[in-house]
Amino acid sequence: MRVTRVLFAAVAFVSLALAGTSGPADDVVLPDGKAKALIENTCTECHGLDQVVSSPMSSEQWRSTVKSMVKKGATLSAEQIDTVVDYLTVYFSPDRVNVNTAGAQELQDGLQITAAEAAAILQYRKANGAIKDFAGLQKVPGLDQKKLASKKDSISF
Ligand code: HEC
Repeated sequence: MRVTRVLFAAVAFVSLALAGTSGPADDVVLPDGKAKALIENTCTECHGLDQVVSSPMSSEQWRSTVKSMVKKGATLSAEQIDTVVDYLTVYFSPDRVNVNTAGAQELQDGLQITAAEAAAILQYRKANGAIKDFAGLQKVPGLDQKKLASKKDSISF
């Protein structure tokens, strides 16, 4: 099994090298980071890197995706899973909603809050100026704190 895998990797490597710069996998260049090589090696066994980078996700979503890839057969230790999830969360996260510049609709859609909650944020912004951080946002009256906490990764200031 192990020998087959090594052989397979060797063949894949040679064909990649032969393909030069024209293969579809070459279109994706990962940003430098701790998990770059690991992802290039592990996450290309079954599909291209385009599959990996075309789905921006929050940290929890990346964790469950990477875990499901491990179930499918990706070989990563628990520690490597952490490294990969951290890296993917930094570089491939969905666009965050800026709570200081977003309009009512964007706040509603992006944070999945009610119209009344979005209005409360606008109102608070108007009265108190820019919201500086998450603790500041928590002070806005009338927000569902639990829902807010679950969206922490999708918010910027
Ligand atoms: C053993 C094969 C295999 C490996 C290794 C693998 N994947 Fe996948 N991946 C799949 C399959 C199969 C799909 C297609 C979706 C499905 O059938 O669930 C997929 C789909 C995806 C998707 C699309 C979203 C989704 O959940 O369908 C992402 C993102 C992804 N993989 C990321 C990764 C990352 C990151 C790694 C490396 C940690 C990785 N994959 C390694 C098999 C693999």
